[in-house]
Amino acid sequence: MLQDKRILLILTGGIAAYKGLDLIRRLRERGAQVTPVLTRAAEQFVTPLSVSALAGHKVYRDLFDLTDEAEMGHIQLSRSADLILVAPATADIMAKMAQGRADDLASTLLLATDTPVMVAPAMNVRMWDHAATQRNLAQIKQDGVSVIGPNDGDMACGEFGPGRMSEPLEIVAAVAAHFGPRPLSGKRIVVTSGPTHEPIDPVRYIANRSSGAQGTALAQALVDLGAEVVFVTGPAEVSPPRGAHVVSVQTAAEMMAAVETALPADAAVFAAAVADWRVRGASARKLKKQAGDLPTLSFAENPDILAHVAQLDSGRPGLVVGFAAETDDVIDNATAKRLRKGCDWIVANDVSPETGIMGGTENAITLITDAGAETWPRMSKTDVSAQLAQRIANALT
Ligand code: CTP
Repeated sequence: MLQDKRILLILTGGIAAYKGLDLIRRLRERGAQVTPVLTRAAEQFVTPLSVSALAGHKVYRDLFDLTDEAEMGHIQLSRSADLILVAPATADIMAKMAQGRADDLASTLLLATDTPVMVAPAMNVRMWDHAATQRNLAQIKQDGVSVIGPNDGDMACGEFGPGRMSEPLEIVAAVAAHFGPRPLSGKRIVVTSGPTHEPIDPVRYIANRSSGAQGTALAQALVDLGAEVVFVTGPAEVSPPRGAHVVSVQTAAEMMAAVETALPADAAVFAAAVADWRVRGASARKLKKQAGDLPTLSFAENPDILAHVAQLDSGRPGLVVGFAAETDDVIDNATAKRLRKGCDWIVANDVSPETGIMGGTENAITLITDAGAETWPRMSKTDVSAQLAQRIANALT
């Protein structure tokens, strides 16, 4: 998939540099040629020897290394690649890039190049959130750099939040998308994702445990194959996909309205965990506690967005895909759900707590189509998404 693509991989100094080693392996597995560059700080985290062994290539480290200059000057090095990838990218290298500084080999290469540049930031959450980093981020994006991640999660420093470098496979997917065929270009796809929040009063709501991870990963995979994606999302835990048109909603009713506005589309994928019920007569004012008097909630049924779109007489998308979150008799329930809702495919998964799927990073799905049920091996949500996106591309083209 990346056969003979020449990637200049700059590793800068952060704990995530260890993931850079796996990234090298993954890129090479897919046929890429990796030329590694290490900053001084990166050498504190990974050794030049392990990097060159995995890359199968000499490591470049120093701007004033005369052998290198005789063999290949830094200008030539920076232009001899098809892509420059900075992973992990520290706050420092992003600051240098934003300012156009060139005080070591890595920053000089980045300034001297006319090759596309991608960065995968990794840093402490406070450093990421700092106004200066956000300013530098906006600047490098404006200068045409593509940015992958960072992800939310537990950090090596013990804090939680955005700043974790994207996983090597996510970076590989972004690199492949940069070079890859774009079978979905010109196709418009609506994707719903995340939970919905159904208000009880202005401060309380009913929700579910969906993180939005699977819907987001699938939308990203569709974007990466060239689709124009309208991403209608409830309040999710994960950041929305790069390059999608994001519409944020709270309730099922708002999600329905946003989906109707987004149509027509070539395909629609319903990955959201829509609340089946909303609170009837939600209060416009905060409910106050009154001694001995417990409030009673009564419910009204929410619109079934998937069933509505799948059963449209006119303007039905050519492919309508639903998800089925089940805890029992997964295949039977999902097969019945496909017929009941009128969709073309159902992506079924077992969300029993012991599977760790809901809110987790892996998924084990069964794809149900008119041809029957296909059970896929357990894999990361990113891999599930890449494969589903490819299936969608096959169906639409
Ligand atoms: N869905 C939807 N709108 C709703 C409820 C569900 O669009 N109001 C979609 C979901 O996005 C998903 C599919 O329907 O693609 C199935 O959702 P699921 O919660 O598994 O099914 P339910 O309809 O809630 O059926 P049940 O409660 O019987 O499992």
